[in-house]
Amino acid sequence: MKILAIESSCDDSAVAIVDATERRLSIRASRVHSQNVLHAPFGGVVPEIASRSHVEMMTPLVRDTLSDAGATLANIDAFAVTYGPGLVGSLLVGLQTAKALAYAAKKPFIGVHHLEGHIAAITLDRDDPPAPPFLALVASGGHTALYFVRAWGDYETVGQTRDDAAGEAFDKGAKLLGLGYPGGPAIERAAVSGNDAAIALPRALPARDSFDFSFSGLKTALWQHVQKHGVPTGAALADAAASLEAAIVDALVKKTVTAARRKNAPRSVLAGGVAANTRLRALLTRTAAAYAIAVELPPKPLCTDNAAMIAAAAAPRLAAGESSPLDLNAVPTLPLGSR
Ligand code: KG4
Ligand code: ZN
Repeated sequence: MKILAIESSCDDSAVAIVDATERRLSIRASRVHSQNVLHAPFGGVVPEIASRSHVEMMTPLVRDTLSDAGATLANIDAFAVTYGPGLVGSLLVGLQTAKALAYAAKKPFIGVHHLEGHIAAITLDRDDPPAPPFLALVASGGHTALYFVRAWGDYETVGQTRDDAAGEAFDKGAKLLGLGYPGGPAIERAAVSGNDAAIALPRALPARDSFDFSFSGLKTALWQHVQKHGVPTGAALADAAASLEAAIVDALVKKTVTAARRKNAPRSVLAGGVAANTRLRALLTRTAAAYAIAVELPPKPLCTDNAAMIAAAAAPRLAAGESSPLDLNAVPTLPLGSR
């Protein structure tokens, strides 16, 4: 089955074509058009600008991705699209495009949960995709949560952020330090030569028996540091970036490993834009290994928003005969798992 998938929940317009067989999900083509240059002057995503850019980019992206895959619309067997959570104006552009294509091609159409897509990214382009049960950490710009994945489609929310998402903590920290948007990659680059113990920042770990995250205290502590010492430059900037990165990563790793042990999960899957962070990938792998928990890491380009992951989440559902009605609406807030 050839699936054409669309992702437009935030500030990336993405289209992918994935070949799904019973044994393997193979990416035939995947394009992501980043809107970073449009939002960078504002230090964050401006929803109205995001939707307008999606409108401009979607049709050429579909055309170019089909051409990359050497396919035409007639070769596509099903259409998948993110229908939530996300910015409603952004979601609507991808949703309407997928519906129109499916209607014209007379092929099934299915709506996908964005976070299920992030988790399913781990199954792409692999002969031996990791199977549930596992503990997934989804850390992105909008969400930070731990899910116990009992089976595909069966998610228990083990913990989630009480305030900022991990990616948001990177983005807001980068803004305070005068680094660009998006903040995660900027902090990671600046942190390379820094001393991660230079500034004592809080590791926000609420109650011991809770797997919830909290990153707002960290942001306040960094803000206070900048108020007192000014915006750092040179070596002091590297130190501040390294200290911020270490504080966020430590909290993510600690909660993930503790939750995996509590759930007796044999493995842990990392997902979402923050999963592209090298320090997080290394520390989680090292810490989990001490408890014989295997860590599965998607390739970095499949961690940040892309449409191949949406096809990956859609594939088993479509194979089981699932599809969505053409009046499916965009849903800005949409929980994934039950507590
Ligand atoms: O999953 P994603 O692409 O979009 C959302 O669904 O939010 O995640 C984007 C987030 C941003 O906050 C960005 O700063 C963060 O992921 N990010 C990173 C890295 N690359 C992207 N954070 C830390 N280190 C990175 N290398
Ligand atoms: Zn995302």
